[in-house]
Amino acid sequence: MLVPKKTTISLIKCDVGSLAGHHVVPRPLFKIAQKKLREAVENGLINNFYIFNAGDDLELLLAHEKGERNHMIHELAWNTFREAADKALTLKLYGAGQDLLKTAFSGNVCGMGPGVAEMEFEERGADPIVVFAADKTSAGSFNYPLFRMFADPMNTAGLIIDPHMLCGFKFEVVDTLENKAIMLKCPEEMYELLALIGTVGRYVISRIYRADDNLICAASSVSKLSLIAGKYVGKDDPVMITRAQHGLPAVGELLAPFMHTYFVQGWMRGSHWGPLMPVGLKDSKCTAFDGPPRIVALGFQVANGKIASDDEGNPMIADLFDDPAFDEARREAVLSGTALRRMGEFEPARLGSEELEYTSMSQILDKLGKRFMPFQEVV
Ligand code: F6R
Ligand code: MG
Ligand code: MG
Repeated sequence: MLVPKKTTISLIKCDVGSLAGHHVVPRPLFKIAQKKLREAVENGLINNFYIFNAGDDLELLLAHEKGERNHMIHELAWNTFREAADKALTLKLYGAGQDLLKTAFSGNVCGMGPGVAEMEFEERGADPIVVFAADKTSAGSFNYPLFRMFADPMNTAGLIIDPHMLCGFKFEVVDTLENKAIMLKCPEEMYELLALIGTVGRYVISRIYRADDNLICAASSVSKLSLIAGKYVGKDDPVMITRAQHGLPAVGELLAPFMHTYFVQGWMRGSHWGPLMPVGLKDSKCTAFDGPPRIVALGFQVANGKIASDDEGNPMIADLFDDPAFDEARREAVLSGTALRRMGEFEPARLGSEELEYTSMSQILDKLGKRFMPFQEVV
């Protein structure tokens, strides 16, 4: 039997060090990644690649035919991050090697610090993909837009108008605390799905499939570094891959949830709510109060195992949020961000105490412990 050829898109990211605090990946680190990935193309390990940054996260977008969680692909990403982190150390960049939680590679990068979204599929006649990468936020922040893209007919007209979408979509949801997953089908189980994924700090949509043929249409990273390490160590700024068109949400329907800002966890010190701001690559840097949390969206076609490229062999990438259509969302993000910042360290600007990633609360309570006296209300 002829086995159909499959293409894998891997988006693997890591904070390996930043210029001037935690705000942006500097050029020398891009150069290291370019060199390593170019070698991997020459050696036939990957077919082509594109490197970009989401704030202080170095993002490796790889096209290959080795499948998901492939040892060699993950080792390539690990070694690339390792070398970039070494360069960051010699340059005395900030937070060098921040997300590399382990010293040696052990099979795949999941659970070792870097974030991963991967998708293996048989290419359709034309296969448009949009990848998203966000900084100063965390796994769970994509629950809201993924729900809107694949389950909300008020966002995605195709759920009603395209006969190939009437079957609905299945959502794999991970309980990151218990390390369990469940599959829920929309529209039938929409209320149950919403009940879970509204708790963004715990339940994370990891994959989405079209219900009638199990076509994979979205994959997102789920790692929570603080759960892996047992304490605050780095940031699990998330990445995701989505497929579009012809029986799936149109590219414009994938982008529509970002016409408004919405609030995500992870601003300053991983400990504050902040408005997510869609930006083009030129603005992919986190400044004000280390933010606001930002997201970039890159669109491309997959062609014969590669990111479709121009005549010179350069991958053709569309910087989708670099567009005035998202100006209003950016303005909303600035306005609501300043309103939150006016509240300082008062909830809900700050995360609830059980979700604080950085906290001196236990030290403060230890210090004050003996001074707490029984309290009797006088009536
Ligand atoms: C890092 C991040 C930042 C840092 C903050 C404090 O991705 O989210 O907001 O948490 O700049 O960093 P340190 O503790 O390194 O001084
Ligand atoms: Mg950092
Ligand atoms: Mg980051």
